[in-house]
Amino acid sequence: MAETNKTATLTIDGNSFELPIHAPTAGPDVIDIRKLYGQAGVFTYDPGFTSTASCDSTITFIDGDKGELLHRGYPIDQLAEKSHYLEVCFLLLYGYLPKAGELEEFENTITRHTMIHEQMYNFFRGFRRDAHPMAVMVGVVGAMAAFYHDSTDIADPRQREIASHRLIAKMPTIAAMAYKYSIGQPFVYPRNDLDYAANFLHMCFSVPAEEYVVDPILARAMDRIFTLHADHEQNASTSTVRLASSSGANPFACIAAGVACLWGPAHGGANQACLEMLKEIGSPENIPEYLARAKDKDDSFRLMGFGHRVYKNFDPRAKVMKQSADEVLDLLGVENNPVLATAKELEKQALADPYFAEKKLFPNVDFYSGIILEAMGFPTSMFTPIFALSRTVGWVSQWKEMLNDPQNKIGRPRQLYLGETERDYVDIENR
Ligand code: SDX
Repeated sequence: MAETNKTATLTIDGNSFELPIHAPTAGPDVIDIRKLYGQAGVFTYDPGFTSTASCDSTITFIDGDKGELLHRGYPIDQLAEKSHYLEVCFLLLYGYLPKAGELEEFENTITRHTMIHEQMYNFFRGFRRDAHPMAVMVGVVGAMAAFYHDSTDIADPRQREIASHRLIAKMPTIAAMAYKYSIGQPFVYPRNDLDYAANFLHMCFSVPAEEYVVDPILARAMDRIFTLHADHEQNASTSTVRLASSSGANPFACIAAGVACLWGPAHGGANQACLEMLKEIGSPENIPEYLARAKDKDDSFRLMGFGHRVYKNFDPRAKVMKQSADEVLDLLGVENNPVLATAKELEKQALADPYFAEKKLFPNVDFYSGIILEAMGFPTSMFTPIFALSRTVGWVSQWKEMLNDPQNKIGRPRQLYLGETERDYVDIENR
């Protein structure tokens, strides 16, 4: 971080404390409060971390007001248009765009790590068929530590790299297997002659009974979904991965923790929740009722797929995703799908509604990704597993950055205690 000669002065009960201010290469300055408790005997208070920088990072930058998202400095719309997911994975992991030979070697490495240990197939058979695929992913990803002992020593850079490659390569296979298991179809092995996105679609939609040819437009849309979900600063699941990693937990346990956090409907579960909301709305004429509910403070209903903690004008990923949604709907001829018709009308009415404009609520990445995945034929239960496999490279890159940070220490927040002060135990006969 860039040192500045600026300080913030905090005065408490007549005592003043000077807190150093550090300057970023982009975004707001930060006030360094690491010595505050030792100097002033007070904590800062920031539930939800709305004003807290938990670390320094060089991977992703978001400007919520400008609707800007940079990965290692490259704008997301340029990456979505000109790059592809595995090249973005290299960029996130290593910090620069690879030369042709480097990219080819990286893609070959990932391709040849896509199979999982054959004995892991037994794990899937232990789950009920109607288990949510995210429950399966949390379990199987955590269990990878039981099979890949040779890449769990986080002190060994080469083991960290191997674990990174294994996770990026195997998440699509695990997600596809969770899907196949849920529909009672046989697992499909990965194929090395297909690229990352096409391979995932093949593992999900091919059956032994006939040849399945991946449509290149769908493969491109799938790859774009992966790219647009790859990383996003210190969001809830990435912060979970970092906190788990700060205890020295192995990479598979840390990523399983990230999968678990992403499952929540306020985070990665929003794309599933959004489609379920659209199905509940049912048709465009019911939209006004739901818009009214979203505005009603006494109603817990929220518009899934709308709003964002950081973006307060628009989500740049949603803009690119919307283009893909139009391409896929045109290709599949599903523009007459009632769910998708409701989505388009909801987007139109919400964007025109002063309440949502005032609250800066607009469609986020999950609104459009859900529409594309629905059109592709994925059940809503597979939406978040696809988000999880996309975000694995972000989690792994942030995990790797944290382990390389000399300031890395176990995360251990404090609290504002509002409970009982000390009191004596009362025997049961006297209560
Ligand atoms: C992701 O962090 C990341 O980067 C996440 C993510 C990533 O790539 O990792 O971008 C992925 O998680 C995207 C967000 C997906 N979630 C949803 O679509 C769920 C619906 N959205 C909301 O739950 C909400 O917008 C959040 C959680 C996304 C953001 O919540 P904030 O920033 O904490 O805002 P808030 O809850 O304090 O709401 C501010 C106001 C409130 O009204 P007031 O109390 O001020 O009167 O806006 C209202 C809220 O009631 N509001 C909504 C709303 N979201 C916020 N009202 C209706 N519908 C909504 N969706």
